[in-house]
Amino acid sequence: MKVVEGLAELRAIRESMANPVGLVPTMGFLHEGHLSLVRRAKQECASVGVSIFINPAQFGPSEDLDSYPVDLEQDLDLLKSEHVDLAWIPTTAAMYGPGYQTWVEVEELTRYLEGEIREGHFRGVATVVTKLFNSFQPDRAYFGQKDAQQAIVIRRMVQDLNFPIEVIVCPTLREADGLAMSSRNSYLSLDERQAATVLYRALSAADELFNAGEREADRLRAEMETLLGTEPLARAEYASVADPDTLEELHGPIERALLSMAVLIGKTRLIDNMTVGEE
Ligand code: PAJ
Repeated sequence: MKVVEGLAELRAIRESMANPVGLVPTMGFLHEGHLSLVRRAKQECASVGVSIFINPAQFGPSEDLDSYPVDLEQDLDLLKSEHVDLAWIPTTAAMYGPGYQTWVEVEELTRYLEGEIREGHFRGVATVVTKLFNSFQPDRAYFGQKDAQQAIVIRRMVQDLNFPIEVIVCPTLREADGLAMSSRNSYLSLDERQAATVLYRALSAADELFNAGEREADRLRAEMETLLGTEPLARAEYASVADPDTLEELHGPIERALLSMAVLIGKTRLIDNMTVGEE
């Protein structure tokens, strides 16, 4: 596995890589969720690169940029054992040099859900993913359904900006008790770790209701809110039943929906989602 920082070196190695080339963008502190993307890319591409970059532009001023977990040595060991061809670790100076002032905005899809609460977050994500794409020029790029809105925003951006890149969205990997894997789970105390299963329990309750025939968006949302209300360590920021294409909040009868939520467990902010009614 080659490990590179600089753009010139990256481009030279990219030239020598067998096509099609897959890219898995990450912020590191890798877990099985990340590795599931890597394995899918390995199956479908002749060579695979993984980027590790904690992108300051997607963190708000009161968010966890400074405490975001890092373990580069372990990340590189994991990627080596997955037989990844290239680990790319851009520096912040190379990504956002002095005088930096160019941004990518996906307008409507970012008004809702995470975008409504985390102002500027998706501008940071869309910009960094554009820069990763332009620098590495992958044929395929792999993202997780865990960050459902991010995947939808990136698909839109790729279409709108004519990137010749296929976006592949992979299922959410969960712990045995349902908690979606996340680098941020490492912030949780033992009690909080137990409480954190409430996200999956709330999503599953709404999913079961849907499968039992309930179609009223407001009832599905209320079911999630009720479940979230039963966990003393949890404080819900939102529980949403949204149109899976436009991300607008739904009311009245639905055929399909993205169920999603953001919940504070102590100081740790967790998100999760499920789709209902998708074929
Ligand atoms: P990060 O949170 O490190 O996640 C990297 C990729 O792994 C994302 O596509 C995310 O959706 C996926 N992922 C995370 N947890 C997962 C899980 N439990 N199951 C399946 N996939 C999972 O998302 C980012 O980084 C950044 O925003 C990035 C796209 C790299 C841009 O900075």
